[in-house]
Amino acid sequence: MTNPVFVAVDTPTLDGARALLSAVAPHVGGVKLGLEFFCAQGPAGVAAIAALGLPVFLDLKLHDIPNTVAGALHSLGPLAPAIVTVHAGGGHAMLAAARAAAPTATKVVAVTVLTSLDDDDLAAMGVAGTSGAQVARLAGVVRGAGLDGVVASPHETAALRAAWPEALLVIPGVRPEGSAVGDQKRVMTPQAALAAGASVLVIGRPITAASDPAAAAAAIARSLA
Ligand code: C5P
Repeated sequence: MTNPVFVAVDTPTLDGARALLSAVAPHVGGVKLGLEFFCAQGPAGVAAIAALGLPVFLDLKLHDIPNTVAGALHSLGPLAPAIVTVHAGGGHAMLAAARAAAPTATKVVAVTVLTSLDDDDLAAMGVAGTSGAQVARLAGVVRGAGLDGVVASPHETAALRAAWPEALLVIPGVRPEGSAVGDQKRVMTPQAALAAGASVLVIGRPITAASDPAAAAAAIARSLA
C-alpha cells in the first residue's frame, strides 16, 4: 500500500518547509501546502517543494466564477500538483470548469462544508438541515460535475464512501492515539479513518509540532502498515 499520509506544512517559510520535509519525507506519502505557504512563497515556492520529490497537494480552496477558476487552474498547470482543492459551493459549472482546466493527472477535489461551520452557521446562511445532509448534497453536485472526490471530516467518511465508492476522499482532523487534539473538534485515529474509507489522510501538528517529527511520522506509517 502506498503511504496515504500527506503532511500538512502550515508555515509561510520555504526554509521551514524544507527542513521539516527533509526529516519526514521517508515516512509520508505526500505534502499538503495551503494558502499560508502559497501566499508567502507563490508558485516558485511550490516548485521548490515539488523538487524534493513528494507528491504535492495544493490546498487553495478556489471559489469564483467558472472562467476565473479555470484560469487559476491553467496558471497552476506547470506545477502539476497531485491534488488541488476548490469549493463545492461554486456550483456545477465552476466545478466542471475546474476539472476541465486542471492537468489530467491532477486530482481535483472539493471542500463541501467547512468544518469551522456548525448547523447554526448554516441556518444563518439559509441552509436548512444538518451539516451532514449538506455535505451529502454537495458531494452529489461534486460527483455530477466529474470531480475526483471531496475533502471531508473523518465522521463523514463512511457515508461518503458508501455513496461514492470510487471517490478520492481527503480527510483532515486525523489524530494518532494520545496526541493533542488542538482546534480539531471531531477527530479520528489514522487507522479508523482509513477503515472508514479515507483515501488520503491530512496530518499536520501531530507530525509538525512533535519534538521529533520524523519519529512521529514513522510511528503513524507503522500504525498503518
Ligand atoms: O494540524 P492539523 O493536523 O490539524 O492540520 C490539518 C490540516 O488540514 C490543516 O492544514 C488544516 O487547515 C487542514 N484542514 C482541516 N479541516 C478541513 C480542511 C482542511 O483541518 N476541513
